Amino acid sequence: MPNQAKNNLMEKMISLCKRRGFVYPSSEIYGGMQAIYDYGHYGTLLKNNIRDAWWKAMVQMREDVVGLDSAIFMHPTTWIASGHVAGFNDPQVDCRKCKSRFRADHILEEFGISADKAPLEELNKHLEKLREEKKLKCANCGSTDLTPAKIFSLMVKSNIGSPTDELKEENVVYLRPETCGGIYLEYKNTVDSLHKKLPFGIAQVGKAFRNEIVARQFIFRTREFEQMEMQYFLHPSAMKEKYEMWKNIRWQWYLEYGIKRSEIHWYQHEKLAHYASEAFDIEYNFKTLGGFKEIEGIHARGNWDLSQHSKYSGVELDYFDEKTGEKFIPHIMETSVGLSRLVFMFLDQAYTEEKVGAEIRVVLKLDKRLAPMKAAVLPLSKKEELTAPAREIWNDLKRNFMVEYDETQSIGKRYRRQDEIGTPYCVTVDFETLKDKAVTVRNRDTMKQERIKIKELGKYLDKKLN
Ligand code: GAP
Repeated sequence: MPNQAKNNLMEKMISLCKRRGFVYPSSEIYGGMQAIYDYGHYGTLLKNNIRDAWWKAMVQMREDVVGLDSAIFMHPTTWIASGHVAGFNDPQVDCRKCKSRFRADHILEEFGISADKAPLEELNKHLEKLREEKKLKCANCGSTDLTPAKIFSLMVKSNIGSPTDELKEENVVYLRPETCGGIYLEYKNTVDSLHKKLPFGIAQVGKAFRNEIVARQFIFRTREFEQMEMQYFLHPSAMKEKYEMWKNIRWQWYLEYGIKRSEIHWYQHEKLAHYASEAFDIEYNFKTLGGFKEIEGIHARGNWDLSQHSKYSGVELDYFDEKTGEKFIPHIMETSVGLSRLVFMFLDQAYTEEKVGAEIRVVLKLDKRLAPMKAAVLPLSKKEELTAPAREIWNDLKRNFMVEYDETQSIGKRYRRQDEIGTPYCVTVDFETLKDKAVTVRNRDTMKQERIKIKELGKYLDKKLN
């Protein structure tokens, strides 16, 4: 996709998200915070629906996965044991003129050079070559005065619980950079309290924090975000089979929620962490970002995590198999996805512009189960004879669905507004309603209208939505 079209689409997406109450730049009245966003009414509802869809597939429907909600703050040794304190870094390049920050590997990507996890010397060699060829420029201001790449820690620090206000090496506590750390630390309590037998998984949804070097990608990469992770504990002999099983389960989940087969693909990591035996990402082809980008990682992590936490804590994290008499540290297969990244993916996928007569209709064709509002009840006029029955319908429907009541503006404008927030059905109460006790139900995608009896409306929507 040409850059201009991609940028226009991104601007339209950001504008729609703000205008329609999905996503706002955080702390905007104070000038904002880079790469931090707040979710408005519809954004929160959409995010919660995606979270619930994930939870349903990963926990509710399975007997081998249990849930967890662990704390964001953990003992600081957690992140020393996991290797994050020493090695969770990105290579940073600064523009000396406008002070913009970039990731060196992302700059190189723009020139078709793949440098994911490449060592600093290699990155700087590539950058130097581009500099000599006069190709290296700041993407923000165009200056050629860029620094060489240097290491930048992604860990976010706090002094929570410390008696001193000062942040020192001795009192530093980290905000978790990934949610799975809490799962490893609660592995033992889960086995002891729930008596789970291998293989089993622990799933959780929660906030994670990374001092990301920012690129302008809206909510794709943020400094505060939500992850949905599941760690599956198993005997190493089961890894191959279970890895394939989870790859398939996760792939199918995207198809089930309306992502087309042609819009996602697998990316296999060539450079693996020393403890990992396999790592695949599901990548989605973002219209707004102009190409395939990672949305979910599926990783075979060996027994590194539990071994490290056992070593640093001094607590045995072995599993005793009563059937075979074998005692071992379980291996881990993880699925890890950013919830906020999925919000972006579903918005990107749903965003549609259609020509209707002389106008362009913007509509979010979200899966009905994910749509923030399931229906909107719209009286054709503000006259009490229509608003009273319309409110009665709303009062009845809202007990079972997220339904909105709206009597402002012309009916055409109200339809367009509901299209832009992705509401699958608009229920219009008109003067005929007073005679035939029926309403007009308009389908978001086809714009076709049907006359439905009020007394059958709840059942009708229930059937259509589920
Ligand atoms: N526990 C493994 C782990 O955290 P990761 O590849 O660093 O692996 C997993 O992250 C997923 O979390 C990514 O595929 C992405 O969906 C999401 N993610 C990571 N960093 C993010 C960020 N800064 N903003 C939004 N989502 C992010």
